[in-house]
Amino acid sequence: ESLVDFGHKLVSWYELHKRPLPWRETSDPYRILVSETMLQQTRVETVIPYYHRFLRRYPDIRALAEADEADVMKLWQGLGYYSRARNLQRAMQTVVSDHGGIIPQDTKQVQALPGVGPYTTGAVMSIAYNQPVAAVDGNVLRVMSRYLGIADPIDDKHVKADITNHVQTAVEHSVPKLFTQALMELGATVCTPRRPQCLVCPVQDECTARSTGQVDELPRKRPK
Ligand code: ADE
Repeated sequence: ESLVDFGHKLVSWYELHKRPLPWRETSDPYRILVSETMLQQTRVETVIPYYHRFLRRYPDIRALAEADEADVMKLWQGLGYYSRARNLQRAMQTVVSDHGGIIPQDTKQVQALPGVGPYTTGAVMSIAYNQPVAAVDGNVLRVMSRYLGIADPIDDKHVKADITNHVQTAVEHSVPKLFTQALMELGATVCTPRRPQCLVCPVQDECTARSTGQVDELPRKRPK
C-alpha cells in the first residue's frame, strides 16, 4: 500500500467525520493564518471564541496591519504566547508594504514573513491555496511515526525531515486543502497521544505500529 492510498483513505474519512470548525468555513488565507497561529500552542475549544472576536475586530489584513498593538495584545489576552500576536501583526504589515496587501502564494515568500515557520507555511499554502506543501506539526509527527513505524526519537531533526518527505509525497498525490486538514484531524481525534482509537482509524490496516503492537510506544522521545 502506498502513500497515495493513505491520502485517499484519509481524505474520504475526513469528509465524513470532520468536526465543523469555524476556520473550515473559509478559504480566506488571512483567516487560515489567524486560525493556524492561534492553534499552534492552544487547544481548539479555547481558540474558537478568540478566533471569532479577533476577526470581528480585525476582519482583514489591513485592519490588523493598522491596529494599535496594545489593542491586539488585549484581544489576545488568555491565549498566551504573545509573540505570536506581535508577529502576526508584523506579518500583516509586511504583506501590506511588500505584497500589495495579499498573502503571497509563493512558499518562500510566506515563510519569510515574521513568525511564520515551515508548519504555518505548509498550512496556509495547502489549506488556503490548495498547493501541495507539507504541514508537519506535533500531531502529524505522532500519526506518521506510528503509521511508518519510526522508532528513532521524534525530536531528532532527521526524523522530522524524513516524515516531512513522506507527507510531501502524499500531499502531492492528494487534494492538498483536504489532505492537510485530514491528517491533523486524525491526530486530534483518533490517533491521539494516549488511548488512540485504532478501531475507527481509516488507515489501521496499513499502520506499522498497529501491526507490530507498538502504538503505545510510539512516538519515542529522545532519552535525556
Ligand atoms: N490544529 C492545528 N491546525 C488545526 C486545524 N486546522 N484544525 C484543527 N486543529 C488544528
